[in-house]
Amino acid sequence: MSTFRIAVIGCGSMSKAWIEHSLQREDSQIVAMVDIRKESAAAMAERYGIRCGIYDDVRQAITETGANLVFDVTIPESHFAVTSAALELGCDVFGEKPMTTSMEQARRLVALAEREGRTYAVMQNRRYLPQIRAFRDVIAHSGIGEIGFVNADFFLGPHFGGFRDAMDSPLLLDMAIHTFDQARFITGKDPVSVYCHEFNPAGSWYAGNAAAICIFEYADGGVFCYRGSWCAEGSPTSWEAQWRVNGSRGTAIWDGATAPIAEVLLTAEEQAGAGGSRFRRVEAELSWNGRSGHAGCLDEMFAALVEGRRPETYCTDNIKSMAMVYGALESAKEGRKVKL
Ligand SMILES: NC(=O)c1ccc[n+]([C@@H]2O[C@H](COP(=O)([O-])OP(=O)(O)OC[C@H]3O[C@@H](n4cnc5c(N)ncnc54)[C@H](O)[C@@H]3O)[C@@H](O)[C@H]2O)c1
Repeated sequence: MSTFRIAVIGCGSMSKAWIEHSLQREDSQIVAMVDIRKESAAAMAERYGIRCGIYDDVRQAITETGANLVFDVTIPESHFAVTSAALELGCDVFGEKPMTTSMEQARRLVALAEREGRTYAVMQNRRYLPQIRAFRDVIAHSGIGEIGFVNADFFLGPHFGGFRDAMDSPLLLDMAIHTFDQARFITGKDPVSVYCHEFNPAGSWYAGNAAAICIFEYADGGVFCYRGSWCAEGSPTSWEAQWRVNGSRGTAIWDGATAPIAEVLLTAEEQAGAGGSRFRRVEAELSWNGRSGHAGCLDEMFAALVEGRRPETYCTDNIKSMAMVYGALESAKEGRKVKL
C-alpha cells in the first residue's frame, strides 16, 4: 500500500498541478476525488485515467477510502470546512492559499492542526524559484548589512473576467498574500504594524479596489513598502514583483525575473585599493536546483512528511503572511495604523 493515500478535494483548474505532481510519486496514490459538483470530480479522474472513489462529501470520502493526506484545492470560502474536517479525521493537509477567509478561522485551523498533531501546510509557490532563493542568499550573505528599507512594486493589468472582477479588494485578498509571504521569506523578518491605503485607480475594470500602498513596520524601525496595482496597463512588472532592499552597507535588487544583484559599500581600505570605486558588485548565483512553483512547494511538503519535520510553509508560519493581508485590509477600512 502507498505511504500517501490522497484525497483531492476541489477538482477545478488549480487541482491539475496537484494531481499531476502526485501521479509522479511512487509513494502516493490518489484514492478519492471530491467536488461538490460530483461530475467535476468524475471528469478529472477520467482526464487522468485515475481509478478511485468519486465523492461530493469530504468526510465520507476520507472514511470510506482510508485517505491519510488531503489536498484542499477548493475555493477560499471552503478551506475552513474542508481542512478542519480532514484534520479532525486524522489526515495531514496540504492546502491552497489563502488558508481561510478570516484570521479567526485561520487561528482555529492552526490550533486544530497542533492539537491533532497533524501537518497543515499551505501552497506558497512563489518561494520556489532559483532567483528568489538567490535573492534571499544575497540579502543575508553579500554584506549589505542590517535591513532598513524593503520595497516591492507589483504593477500588472490582467483581464481575468470572473470572480476577481466582482470581489472586494481583489489585489489584497487574492494576490498580495504571495508578495507579503515573499517579503517574509527573503528578509526573515515579520512586521509588527501596517498602514494601508487601498483604492481603485481611474480606468480600473474591477468593481473592488484593485490597488494598494502598504507601509509595514518592523520592530527595529525598518519598513517594508508595498505598492501594487492589478489594473496597471503598460510596462508590467514581473508577477514575482520588483524588489529593492536597502541595508546599512548596501543594496540588493531583483527585477523578479533575472538574477538578483547587490552593491555593497567597500571599507575605506578597500576603496583606496579599488581606484576610487566605492562599491563592490555582487552577482547572485542561481544555485538552488529544486523544482519551480507548485512542484517545488509540493516537493518540500512531501519531503517534510517523509522526514518527520515541519514544512517551510507550515500553518504556524503561513498565518503570519495571512496576518499581513488582514492587517492591511483592516487598516484600509479604518484609515489607521494597525498592530499585527
Ligand atoms: N497558488 C497559486 O498561484 C494559485 C493560483 C490560482 C488559484 N489558487 C487557489 O487555488 C484554489 C482553487 O482555485 P481554482 O482556480 O482551482 O478554483 P475553481 O473554482 O476552478 O475550483 C475550485 C473547485 O472546488 C470545488 N469546491 C468548492 N467548495 C467545495 C467543497 N466544500 N468541497 C468540495 N469541492 C468544493 C468547486 O466546485 C470547484 O470545482 C483557491 O484557493 C485559489 O486561491 C492558487
